[in-house]
Amino acid sequence: MVATNQDINQIYQENLKFWDAAWKRVSKPHKEFPKLPYIHELTRKFKKYQVKKVLDLGCGSGWLTIFMSKYGFDVTGIDIAKPAIELGKIWAKEENANVNFLVGDLFNLPFKEGSFDAVVCNSVLEHFRLDQAEAIFQKVYKILKDGGYFFGCFDQVGTGKGEYFELGDSTHVYTDQMRKGMMLRNYPDEELKELLKGFNILSFDKNNYGSRLVWAKKRSLL
Ligand SMILES: C[S@@+](CC[C@H](N)C(=O)[O-])C[C@H]1O[C@@H](n2cnc3c(N)ncnc32)[C@H](O)[C@@H]1O
Repeated sequence: MVATNQDINQIYQENLKFWDAAWKRVSKPHKEFPKLPYIHELTRKFKKYQVKKVLDLGCGSGWLTIFMSKYGFDVTGIDIAKPAIELGKIWAKEENANVNFLVGDLFNLPFKEGSFDAVVCNSVLEHFRLDQAEAIFQKVYKILKDGGYFFGCFDQVGTGKGEYFELGDSTHVYTDQMRKGMMLRNYPDEELKELLKGFNILSFDKNNYGSRLVWAKKRSLL
């Protein structure tokens, strides 16, 4: 579909409504950590790299935010969906977890340059158009300290059946009742690497589910 700017804005507003509605359907926190080997590797590496302050971008109800806080990291989780952040706050309170949860937009992050030692982004970027992903990476670059770390899990998406139309950059915009407004875009390896052009890629692996697990270190401009 060749979309005008107005269409693009409207599609994005529908996308935000999708996330809000999706999280409103969740009545209580799902207090279980997924059995994903890479989350243990994450905390091990953060310890090794002497990471202290971490930002969890698009944290949802905050399972990874809370998980990391249990290992002593100073973690902030940010998500645009207020119902998701409310669930995270309930969970954190019940667990006595010391985390900072914020409702906020990845395009307007309320942090100063060089605020974090590390940024994690788990299963989020594939819900954005390519131009949006580029803008997000520019922000991530800025809010990381020089030599700061980025970890991203990028899922293989958009290959299954579904009712959607396609934008010019191959982003799928879903139209069926349950997913109306949700966007999915599959990022080829080369594009992901290009998005990380301000970083040295430390590892780029694929897990059993076809997700790309990417570790990168911010390159200093000096
Ligand atoms: C697939 S979920 C992943 C949640 C979490 N990271 C996880 O691993 O379970 C994608 C998340 O991105 C959030 N999101 C979508 N657009 C956003 C935006 N513009 N700013 C911040 N968060 C956003 C959604 O609300 C949703 O919680």
